[in-house]
Amino acid sequence: MRQLIAGTWKMHGLSREAEAIATPLREAGILGRDLLVCPPATQIAAVARILAGSAVAVGGQDCHYATHGAHTGDISAPMLRDAGATHVIVGHSERRQDHHETDDQIRGKAMAAIAAGLTPIVCVGETGIEREEGREFGVVGRQLAGSLPDGFAGVVAYEPVWAIGTGRTATEGDVADMHAFIYGELVRRFGAAGEGILILYGGSVRPANAAALLAVPHVGGALVGGASLKAEDFLAIARAA
Ligand code: PGA
Repeated sequence: MRQLIAGTWKMHGLSREAEAIATPLREAGILGRDLLVCPPATQIAAVARILAGSAVAVGGQDCHYATHGAHTGDISAPMLRDAGATHVIVGHSERRQDHHETDDQIRGKAMAAIAAGLTPIVCVGETGIEREEGREFGVVGRQLAGSLPDGFAGVVAYEPVWAIGTGRTATEGDVADMHAFIYGELVRRFGAAGEGILILYGGSVRPANAAALLAVPHVGGALVGGASLKAEDFLAIARAA
């Protein structure tokens, strides 16, 4: 399976910055891995235009579970698709925390994404306290059970909350254990189809640690925050072997 290197810019990127990050990606020849960037919603159409015809796909960072309606400020999956997106991240821990998103809502968002022809990237991950208390597998197992719809056709991202934006990454052993656990859960629920679901690792992925993390069994790629804001770092991660 080809690994997917996805970058999320979070709430970063005015027009000039978006152009500066996306333009060098256009010509980047990356062999053997798929690339995706998820700009803020206001930049999706512009970035999709810059990257049209390149090997880099464009995604959203969230979508609503409805296709349209009276939901001020929200953006639907068909709108993302219309703007040029092929993927959408749902259930990122910052959405779970800042917007109190529940597994039920995230499952609805994943279903909306699939119905709109987008590939959802569903995020799961335990907090630092949950890991200290030895509850990481229980928490992630519950998030998977609640957030993934039946017949799930998408990507899962394991992002330990304590590793996001902190410069601390999980050890390769911890990543191996959790990815093996997630793989087991996916196969148990989805059978053979579960074997083909990519499981990304996210949380302080950098050029310096990417090769080691991407070599861990059942790691299907990376979800990169901070380091995706510099094209050169993002490309270094994508090239890490
Ligand atoms: P980070 O963010 O790479 O800045 O830690 C990762 C993420 O939130 O997906």
